[in-house]
Amino acid sequence: MSEKTLSLSTKTKAFFSLLSVAIAFWGAGRALAQAEQVHHDVTYARDVAPILQEKCVHCHRSGGVAPMSFESYESTRPWAPIIAYRTGLRDKPGAMPPWYMEKDIGIQEFRNDMSLSDEQVTTIAAWAESGAPLGNPDDIPPAREFDDSGEWSIRPDLVVRSQDFFMRGGAPDYWGDIEPIKIPLEEDRYVAAMQVREINDVSTREGVRDTVGGQVIVHHLTFVLNSPDENGVLRPRGLSFLTHEVGRNEDYFPDDVGRILPANSEFQSNSLHLHSNGVDTTAYLEIAFEFHPEGYKPKYTRTGGHGGFGAPGNTVDMDVRPNTQNQEMHAYTVLTENTMILSFEPHLHAPGVRMCLEAIWGSKTEILNCVGYDHTWVRSYSYGENAAPLLPKGTIVHLIGYNDSTRANPNIASSENWIGGGNRSVSNMFLELGHNVRLTDEEFLTEMQERVEALDLQPGDYVIGCPLCGALVAPTTAQPGVEDTEVSTQATGGLEVSQAEVSQ
Ligand code: HEC
Repeated sequence: MSEKTLSLSTKTKAFFSLLSVAIAFWGAGRALAQAEQVHHDVTYARDVAPILQEKCVHCHRSGGVAPMSFESYESTRPWAPIIAYRTGLRDKPGAMPPWYMEKDIGIQEFRNDMSLSDEQVTTIAAWAESGAPLGNPDDIPPAREFDDSGEWSIRPDLVVRSQDFFMRGGAPDYWGDIEPIKIPLEEDRYVAAMQVREINDVSTREGVRDTVGGQVIVHHLTFVLNSPDENGVLRPRGLSFLTHEVGRNEDYFPDDVGRILPANSEFQSNSLHLHSNGVDTTAYLEIAFEFHPEGYKPKYTRTGGHGGFGAPGNTVDMDVRPNTQNQEMHAYTVLTENTMILSFEPHLHAPGVRMCLEAIWGSKTEILNCVGYDHTWVRSYSYGENAAPLLPKGTIVHLIGYNDSTRANPNIASSENWIGGGNRSVSNMFLELGHNVRLTDEEFLTEMQERVEALDLQPGDYVIGCPLCGALVAPTTAQPGVEDTEVSTQATGGLEVSQAEVSQ
C-alpha cells in the first residue's frame, strides 16, 4: 500500500485517533458479529462492487468529486479498512456516504436518502476484515456509465452558472456581491427539484486543508429572485429557494408546492461567502433546475421558505467552551399556522456535530428526527411522500444542537479556543433552514385525511410527525345509526372534525 495511493485525510486520522476509535471498534465488532452470521465468504466481485456502484462511484470515480476512485478492484482494495471505518460511522460526522440521519429514532422516509442499509454496512465490514478478497472476477457487475447527466442527482431541464470566484490559498473569509445570474426562460416554470454544485480547479489534495469545507471554497450563497414587473423592470419577488451551502445536496419542491421560476428573471445575491481551502482556487457554481410539467400549477403557495419556522435558533450570542464535547444549544418557536414540513436542514458551523428536531403538542413530545452534522457536507433531508410532518398551529418546535470543540471534531480549527457565533465557517451558527408550507384548517384536515388513508391507519396506530392523525381514525366501537359523531375538539386542538368528513 503506497503512500501515494493511500494518503488518509486528516479527517480520517482525526476520527480514527480520538474519541471515535472506541465507538468504531465497538460498532465494527458488532457489525462483524452480525456479518459473520450473514456472510461467510464476502467478495469484492459479488458482494461489494454492487454496493459501491449503487452508492459510491457517482462521486468516487475519475473526474468525480471525491479524491479517490472506487471503480475497480485495484483502486478500491487499498482503501478497504478506511471504507469499512467510514461506512461504519453511520450517522456520525465523517460518515460515508455523506448522509447522517439517525436510523433508530424519528421519521425514516426521505426522497433523497443515499444511506447504506444495515446489511450493506455489515457486508463491507466483513469484506474488509477478511482481507478484502476479489472473488470471481466474472461476478463483477458491468461498470456504470456516466454521461453529463450522471453528475446530477436530479434530472436538470435548465442549468445556469455563476461568474468565476477566486480565493487565494490561506486568505481570510470573504463576503460580497455576485453578478446577477440570468434565467433564460421565455415562460414561467415551476421548479420540482434544484441542485447547486461547485466546479473548481482543485484536482489533487496537495496543500488542500482537511478542516471545514474540504476542497470547496463557496461556503454559502443566498439567492434573491428578481423578475420583470408589468413595465419589464426587474424587481425583487420575495421568493426564496434555498441558501447554497458547502457540500449541499439536492432540494425537492414536491407536487403540491412547486416554486415559480419566472420568465426572464435573475438570481441576485449580496451574500456570497468564500472560505479558503488552503490553495489558490478558482470556482463557479452551477445551478440546475428540474421543472414540473408545462401547465402545472401548485396547490399550495404559502411556502415558509428557508428559515421556515421564522428561523428559530441563534447566530449571535453563542458560547461554545473550548475542548468540550456534547455542548447543547436549545431554541423554541411556536407555530402560528398549521405547517407541513417538507425538509429538515440543520445548519451549524465547524463545532456542530448533531441536531435534533422535536415537536411538542399538548402533552405529546416527539423527536421528529436527529441527524449528525459535518460542516463539510450540508445536507437537506427531504421528507418522502406521506412522511412530511403535519403539525397543527400551536405546536412548539424545539431544536437541539450539539457542539464538539475537541480535536475529535476535525472541523475545529483549534480546540484551545472559545468559539462564539459568527458568519465565519470556523465560528458557530445554530439554525434550521428547511422548507415548509403553511396550511389553512381546511387544507390541513384534507392533508391529514389523505395521510390516514395512504397509511391505512387503524385505531391505536401512531404515526410520528402527525400528532392529530390518530384523532381522525374511526373508533372501532362506532355506534350504528350515529352518522355525524363529533370527535372531541380537545383531541384535535380546536379543529372541527366529524366522522362524516373523515369517512368521505
Ligand atoms: C456525494 C458524493 C460522495 C458519495 C456518494 C460518497 N462519497 Fe466518499 N467521499 C466524497 C468526498 C468529496 C470525500 C473527501 C472529503 C471527505 O472526506 O469528506 C470522500 C471521502 C471518502 C473516504 C475517506 C478517504 C480518506 O482520505 O480518509 C472514504 C473511505 C469514502 N469516501 C468512502 C465512500 C464510500 C464507501 C461511499 C459509498 C458507500 C462513499 N464514499 C460515497 C464524496 C462522496
